[in-house]
Amino acid sequence: MGRVKIGMDISMKGQETIVEKLERERVLSRSDYITLLQNRDEALAKELSGRAVNLREQYYGKDVYIRGLIEFTNYCKNDCFYCGIRASNSKVRRYRLSSEEILACCKRGYALGFRTFVLQGGEDPYFGEDEISRLVEAIKREHPDCAVTLSVGEHPRAVYRRWFEAGADRYLLRHETADDAHYRMLHPVSCSPENRKRCLWDLKEIGYQVGCGFMVGSPRQTEEYLAEDLLFLHKLQPEMVGIGPFIPQYDTPFGGEPAGSIGLTLFLLGIIRIMLPDVLLPATTALNTLDSRGMEKGMLAGANVCMPNLTPDRVRGQYALYEGKDGVKGGDAGGRGAVWESEARIAGGDAEECTPVPGGEVRAESVRKESAATGQREALGALRRRMEAIGYRVVTDRGDCKRKKTDPI
Ligand code: 5AD
Repeated sequence: MGRVKIGMDISMKGQETIVEKLERERVLSRSDYITLLQNRDEALAKELSGRAVNLREQYYGKDVYIRGLIEFTNYCKNDCFYCGIRASNSKVRRYRLSSEEILACCKRGYALGFRTFVLQGGEDPYFGEDEISRLVEAIKREHPDCAVTLSVGEHPRAVYRRWFEAGADRYLLRHETADDAHYRMLHPVSCSPENRKRCLWDLKEIGYQVGCGFMVGSPRQTEEYLAEDLLFLHKLQPEMVGIGPFIPQYDTPFGGEPAGSIGLTLFLLGIIRIMLPDVLLPATTALNTLDSRGMEKGMLAGANVCMPNLTPDRVRGQYALYEGKDGVKGGDAGGRGAVWESEARIAGGDAEECTPVPGGEVRAESVRKESAATGQREALGALRRRMEAIGYRVVTDRGDCKRKKTDPI
C-alpha cells in the first residue's frame, strides 16, 4: 500500500498514517480502503473513532438529533433475499396505517420534541404518488416547522419530484451494496443495481437531502465490496448514511446466515464520519438490537442521529425486517434466539392505539392514550439519559445537514 503506514509503527516515524491520510484527503484508494479494513484492530479503531468524534463535534457539537420513525406499511412488492417483509414471506401479518393514524403519530411525536418524521414503508403500490403527496402535505400543514423524510423505495424521477414539491425534505434509500454482482446476490432479478443508483442520483438532483447506506456483514460481503461502498459514498456525497449490521430473519432465504459484526459496523461509522464530516449518521436500530449499548457505542464511533420508533403498538412487531427488532424474538427457545444480547427498545414502547372511525376522525381511548403518551415520554426520557451519560444531549431540532450548498464536492 505504498508509503502509507497503518498505525503508529515506530519504524515509520514521521510518516502519515492511513487514517491521517483519510482525514486529509476525505477518500482513499480502493486498495487503501481494503488495507484499512483488513488491519482493523483495537488501536486502529481507537484512532478512527477519536478523529471521527472530533469531527462530529466540530460540526454538530454534543447534539443528538432524533427522528420519529413511522413504519406505515409492511406490504412490499419486492422480494429481497435478506428482508423479513419480502413479498413471498407469507408468515408476515400485513398492515397499513391510515392517514389519521399517521398524523396522530406525528402529533404525539411533536409533543415529545420530534421535529423530523420519517415515513418508512415497503414498496406498497397502495400508497401511490397521490397518496404519499397528500400525506406529506398534511404533515407539513400541521407541522410546518418539521422536516419530512420519505423512505419508500424506488420510483420514477417525476414521482420523486412531485413528492419534493409536496414538501418532502429528505429521502432515505440505502444502496445496499455498490457492487453490481453483489447486488444481484442479495436481490431477485426484478431489482437492478442500475435503477437503485439512478434513483439516488435523481433524488440528489431534485434537491432532497439524500441518505444511502448498506448492511454490514450482509451475505457474501467482502472487504473489496465494502471498499466499493466507501468509494460510492465519496462519489454521491450523500447528506445521510444509514449503516447497520445484517441480522438474519428466519423466514427469508438468508435466515441461516450469520449476523454482521458490531465492531466492523463501528469501524465503518468512523470511516464514514471522516470521509463526510458533516454527514447525518444514525446509530441504527439494528446496531442497538445486537448490542444493548449499541446506541452509545454508535455515538462514540461518530454517529449523531437516533431514530426512535413512533409506530403504534397495534402493529408494532409486524415491521419485522430481521429477528429481534422491536424486542420480538424469533427462532427456537434458547437456541438461535439467544444471540440477542438485549431487547432494549429506545422509545415509543407504548404508542397509543388509534381507531379510525367512518367520519375520518381519530378516536383514541382517553385512558389508553394517557398511558401510551406516558410510556413514550418515559422511553424518550431513557434515551435522553443514555445520551447524557456519555456527554451528549438529545435536542428539539429538525436536524438538517450542516453542509453548505456551495461546499466543493
Ligand atoms: N438485517 C439488517 N438490516 C436489514 N434491512 C432489511 N433487512 C435487514 C436485515 N435482515 C435494512 C435494509 C433496508 C433497511 C430499511 O433495512 O438495508 O434498506
